[in-house]
Amino acid sequence: MIKAEHLKKTYTVKVGKGLKRKNQQIEAVKDISMQIDKGKIIGLLGINGAGKTTTIKMLTTLLSPTSGTYVMDDIDAIKYPTEIKKRINMIAGGERMIYWRLTAYENLWYYGQIYNVPNHILKKRIDELLELVGLEQKKNVPVETFSKGMKQRLQIARGLINNPEYLFLDEPTIGLDAIVSKELRNHIKHLAINENKGILLTSHYMSEIEELCDYIYILSEGMLIKQGTTKELAADTFNRKEYVLKLYAYTNDITKNIENRLRAFDSSVTLLENSEGINISSNKNISLELSKTCSEEGVFIKEMYEKEPRLEDTIMQIAKEA
Ligand SMILES: Nc1ncnc2c1ncn2[C@@H]1O[C@H](COP(=O)(O)OP(=O)(O)OP(=O)(O)O)[C@@H](O)[C@H]1O
Ligand SMILES: [Mg+2]
Repeated sequence: MIKAEHLKKTYTVKVGKGLKRKNQQIEAVKDISMQIDKGKIIGLLGINGAGKTTTIKMLTTLLSPTSGTYVMDDIDAIKYPTEIKKRINMIAGGERMIYWRLTAYENLWYYGQIYNVPNHILKKRIDELLELVGLEQKKNVPVETFSKGMKQRLQIARGLINNPEYLFLDEPTIGLDAIVSKELRNHIKHLAINENKGILLTSHYMSEIEELCDYIYILSEGMLIKQGTTKELAADTFNRKEYVLKLYAYTNDITKNIENRLRAFDSSVTLLENSEGINISSNKNISLELSKTCSEEGVFIKEMYEKEPRLEDTIMQIAKEA
C-alpha cells in the first residue's frame, strides 16, 4: 500500500533581473494525502496547474517533498528512494521514452538493463510482455514503422519491464483513437484486477476516469478539495435525486395526481414531462413512494430508474461551487 500524508512541495524560482533578482517561492502542492492500494486504480483530477504532475513526481521519487510523509509497503519512500524506484514505473501519454530506430525488443532490452533485470529473466519477460500487448509479431521491427497505437502498447510493455508493483499513468490514452484507447483501458483494468498492480491515473477524459477508477482525488491549487468513488462524489455534490418514470398510456391528469401525492410526501418534489416520460426530482429518496403512488393510481410502470449523475456533471458542479 502507498500512503502519502500531508505532502507539500514548494519550488524556489528566481525572478527579476540583475541586482533586483530574488527568490520566489511557489507552493505547487500545499497539503495532499492519498492512499493507493494494490489491485486498485486511483484517479487524480484537477485543472491545469492544480499540482498533479508535482504530486506524481513526488510519488515516483523524482522530486523530494518539502514536507510530509510517504510510505510504500512499510518502506520510508523519502529516505530510501532507490528501493521505491525498483517497485514502480511510469507510463506517460505521447511517444516519449521509446527509441524509434530500435526494434521493440531492443527498446525493452535497453530499459530492462536500466532496471538491472538479470538477462535470463529479461529475455523471458520481454517475450511475455510483447505477447501481453499483442506485439509479438513486431518483436524485431524498428519502432519507427509502428502506428501510434502500437507505440503506445510498447510503452505499456516498457512500463512493466521491471515488474513494478505500482504504476503511475499520466494521460496514457492521449491522442489515441477510440479502438486503441479502449484496448488500453482494458489492459489497465487487467493489470489492476489480474496482476494486482496499484495504479495511479491522471486523465482529462472524465469518462475514462469514471470507467476505470475505484477512487478519485480532486486537486485544486495544490490542495485536495474532494475525494471518493464516483458515486460518493455525486452524492456529496448533488443534494437532489433525479428519477425517470415511464408509464404506459400516461395522461396529464395522471401526472398531476402523481405530483400531488409525491408533493405531500416531499414538498420539494418537481415533475417535468418530456418525450422520455416524466423526470422527477426530490430532496428525499422517493423510489418506494413513486412505485406505491403509481400502483395506487392504477398506472403501469414501463420503466423507472434513478438517474446517476455522470462524473463530468459532478466535476462541473464542483468547479462551479469552488
Ligand atoms: N519546476 C517548477 N518550478 C517552478 N514552478 C513549477 C515547477 N513545476 C510546476 N510548477 C508550478 O507548480 C504549480 C503546479 O504545477 P503542476 O505541473 O504540478 O500542475 P498539473 O496539475 O500537473 O497541471 P497540468 O494539468 O497543466 O499538467 C503550477 O503553478 C506550476 O506553474
Ligand atoms: Mg501535469
